[in-house]
Amino acid sequence: IRHLLSGADLDADTAIQILDTAAEMAAVSGREVKKLPALRGRTVVNLFYEDSTRTRISFEAAAKRLSADVINFSAKGSSVAKGESLKDTALTLQAMGADAVVVRHPASGAPHRLADWVDGSVVNAGDGTHEHPTQALLDAYTMRSRMGRLAGLSVAVVGDVLHSRVARSNVLLLSTLGAKVTLVGPPTLIPVDIAAALAPGTAVCYDLDAVLPSTDVVMMLRVQRERMGDSYFPSAREYARRYGLDGARMRRLPEHAIVMHPGPMNRGMEITPEVADSPRSTIVEQVTNGVSVRMAVLYLLLGGNNR
Ligand code: CP
Repeated sequence: IRHLLSGADLDADTAIQILDTAAEMAAVSGREVKKLPALRGRTVVNLFYEDSTRTRISFEAAAKRLSADVINFSAKGSSVAKGESLKDTALTLQAMGADAVVVRHPASGAPHRLADWVDGSVVNAGDGTHEHPTQALLDAYTMRSRMGRLAGLSVAVVGDVLHSRVARSNVLLLSTLGAKVTLVGPPTLIPVDIAAALAPGTAVCYDLDAVLPSTDVVMMLRVQRERMGDSYFPSAREYARRYGLDGARMRRLPEHAIVMHPGPMNRGMEITPEVADSPRSTIVEQVTNGVSVRMAVLYLLLGGNNR
């Protein structure tokens, strides 16, 4: 593949190739000397129009561990603040020799437009409420490493599905890899047609307590208050009471089940500190795995057998 814009870009073989390559990269990350020369002479631009902690730093670490040159571009403090368009910004980066552009943008579809304008590879690092494919890959990697498989796993994706690019990419990728996904949350936060539109076979349930006992992986989503008005749910307390994962609910999960969250978390709303910091939580592990997965993505897009 030339770009990674959507979970739908990945067939099962390509997704498994990325996860297997990430496992090899994880071995490099565990070494005393963490660098590989694979992308020496290549330039990766991190083009972030939205805030990020994990994704931006993770892509930077991944590119540097592969010996690429990294340019970090934040829209704040750039000529975007003077009104420069995404296209003109892209052409400027192109003129500076970007081999790959990692882009986060508030507009759904922005990475797809960018891919029309630049010669290099484009990686979607989160576009609006649309997709976040490398998050789905690192989540799949974490599930596979903890549970030993993806096919047949029961995965509950819980909470603000409506505004979640993480949920969309996970539904697409996990379905491709044979997991059974159930979307759980209040009806106002689960689009009516989402299951059929993304992946037939995806279930929807509005009762978290009913789903927990048969779930292998519970993935809590951040409630994105910044993207919603007051109409979506009555109050934070009511939301936490019905859809928050606390200690009592966690104990309804099977013994082997794990708890995931892409971060950043609203502690006390969708997840309590007791759960977030428990041995079942893979939240910190997901961040570690994100570097290996992004190394694999950059390596396969830029250094593998595509070019
Ligand atoms: N999970 C995730 O995308 O986190 P950031 O917004 O910090 O990058």
